[in-house]
Amino acid sequence: MQLPNWPYPHTIAHRGAGKLAPENTLAAIRLGVSFGYRACEFDVKLSRDNVCVLMHDADLDRTSNATGAVADRDWAMLSQLDAGSWHSSAYVGEPIPTFANVIAYCNANDVAMNVEIKPSPGRERETGAAVARECERRCTTAKTPPLLSSFSTDALLAARDAAPESLLAHLFQDPLPSDWLHKCKSVGAIALDANWKSLTAAIVQEAHANGLRVACYTCNEIADAERLWSWGVDSVITDAVDRIAFRA
Ligand code: G3P
Ligand code: MG
Repeated sequence: MQLPNWPYPHTIAHRGAGKLAPENTLAAIRLGVSFGYRACEFDVKLSRDNVCVLMHDADLDRTSNATGAVADRDWAMLSQLDAGSWHSSAYVGEPIPTFANVIAYCNANDVAMNVEIKPSPGRERETGAAVARECERRCTTAKTPPLLSSFSTDALLAARDAAPESLLAHLFQDPLPSDWLHKCKSVGAIALDANWKSLTAAIVQEAHANGLRVACYTCNEIADAERLWSWGVDSVITDAVDRIAFRA
């Protein structure tokens, strides 16, 4: 079976620049780019007033100077927060970016985006739809179309309903569930996006034989990445932007 076009590099920077800068900030994405990375993964969810923002956790506690659920806060409040000082003094005052700001940066600098739709609990469909619409509205000039991924089948279905041209990847935790192929197909995904530890050469082969590309997260050792590429894995998402050289 013919494989879908895959305009993404073999390496993608996780959360911007992994752990070297505060995750899911513009500073992190810029740092990844400074190491030569031309693609980044980041996590997007909705504020209470439906602004798409970058944040991994449902709560603000770990990666900002505030507490409580992101979904309970309006953008006016989130925009005032410090999402950098938890990481290190070099990043004090680094703001939470909107998805729109990040799209503008990535488009202007030819950085490909792997947008992980990371809904707050109960907001799966609206988050998927909002992310897909934002991409449709703002990525018309992007050199590389964004790849939208999610662990949530509902979020991916809503993204597809809102913007049928969206390129989707279905994420799975380790171990890979037995119905991974069915789930990928049910949302019209172009790729399986697995925990790297759950992949085998046979799974990569099965995905490719069924017309799916294969991405995986979060592989931080070059020897492991080389093995994954030798099996034909199309993109490896990594924190180790300083140790694993960017590979187109
Ligand atoms: O998108 C791949 C990876 O980021 C998924 O796991 O928890 O780092 O968002 P997590
Ligand atoms: Mg992620």
